[in-house]
Amino acid sequence: MNRIYSYMDMVAKEAEEYAAEHTTPLSPLLEEIEQFTLTATPYPSMLTGRVEGRFLQLMVHLAGARNIVEIGTFTGYSALAMAEALPADGKILTIDHDPEHAQIALNFFDRSPDGKKITLHQGEALAILQGLPAGQADLVFIDADKRNYAAYYEESMRILRDGGLILADNALWYGRIFQPRDEESRAMAEFNERVKADGRAEKLFLTIRDGIYLIRKKGAAPPLP
Ligand SMILES: C[S@@+](CC[C@H](N)C(=O)[O-])C[C@H]1O[C@@H](n2cnc3c(N)ncnc32)[C@H](O)[C@@H]1O
Repeated sequence: MNRIYSYMDMVAKEAEEYAAEHTTPLSPLLEEIEQFTLTATPYPSMLTGRVEGRFLQLMVHLAGARNIVEIGTFTGYSALAMAEALPADGKILTIDHDPEHAQIALNFFDRSPDGKKITLHQGEALAILQGLPAGQADLVFIDADKRNYAAYYEESMRILRDGGLILADNALWYGRIFQPRDEESRAMAEFNERVKADGRAEKLFLTIRDGIYLIRKKGAAPPLP
């Protein structure tokens, strides 16, 4: 098998484990969701996990975010991680088209005092994003089907306020972006080039886990209330 074309962890396992050990653990419920996802779902690699979860929480804190949109809920881990970091009046709209994933996530949200900050919209992400008002979101987390990343990016730029953040997960796509040979890998490679060339944004490509493209929509953030 061509190594580049297998699903390859980009960060050495030893470094991942070291990073996790040196990162503040998340809440007991998030640890439970992680365990559930690793043992009871067929797609454990879709979970962001402790390091990325804590990174999302810090981004929410540092950005002073109150209004978040997440594309791709899965078992609810990243949505709940961000909800825990939001102030009491903060809100997350999270989107997933899979009814089974949605139900699992809702069951976990119900068990958290921060679950009331989360609204789950079940359906196709692009159509739901297109129905959202412009310029309202403080932060968008893109973490769903790779073929639509470019379209999600354009909608995210529209719904973000000036100075708002986009975090796009799996920007390294397990190394497949280096020699893209299938539709998803080409879509991710093209997405990264599109972002790189976009004069509307400042960008930082982070090699955390499977890569996070951190993007700030240019413009002055409104003063904090
Ligand atoms: C990588 S998982 C999200 C992981 C989650 N953010 C976390 O960290 O725990 C991607 C999710 O996107 C959902 N998804 C894929 N394509 C979608 C689409 N076109 N519209 C809405 N949801 C979609 C899948 O059902 C899956 O649950």
